Amino acid sequence: MEINVTINGQPLTWQVNPGEILLDVLRREGYLSVKWGCGEGDCGACTILVDGQSMRSCLMLVGQIEGRTLTTVESLGTVGEPHPLQAAFVEHGAVQCGYCTPGMLLSAKALVDQGHVPTEDQVREALDGNLCRCTGYKKIIEAVLDAAERMNK
Ligand code: FES
Ligand code: FES
Repeated sequence: MEINVTINGQPLTWQVNPGEILLDVLRREGYLSVKWGCGEGDCGACTILVDGQSMRSCLMLVGQIEGRTLTTVESLGTVGEPHPLQAAFVEHGAVQCGYCTPGMLLSAKALVDQGHVPTEDQVREALDGNLCRCTGYKKIIEAVLDAAERMNK
């Protein structure tokens, strides 16, 4: 069947089996920032934004995204012009192996796009579903708070 979706601002039509896992389709279509971690909804490595909400693509069937708007890290920024969250992650040393980073950035983006500086507890809650095996979370939380302050100045 055909699925119509807007991803990273680009309207697309994909030929899919409606029972396919969205994470598998995204990676097949070249969105390799979306990572396969646990495949069971536990790690957050597969996080994307669906209509601005942080969602785990390993728990969604592609048939669920008809007409919806998706965001992946491919649209966030570039090496020369990073998104404020990406810049803050680098400045705060919040990236080590990087496997969790795309999902972390998107969960953080859903929070900071609400247009106010969150509290530390709100950042912790927003990133609750994203696991990191490397950083110990402190630097990630500092980076999100710093980026949110810069974006809301
Ligand atoms: S791969 Fe989706 S939550 Fe782990
Ligand atoms: S930086 Fe390695 S899992 Fe988070």
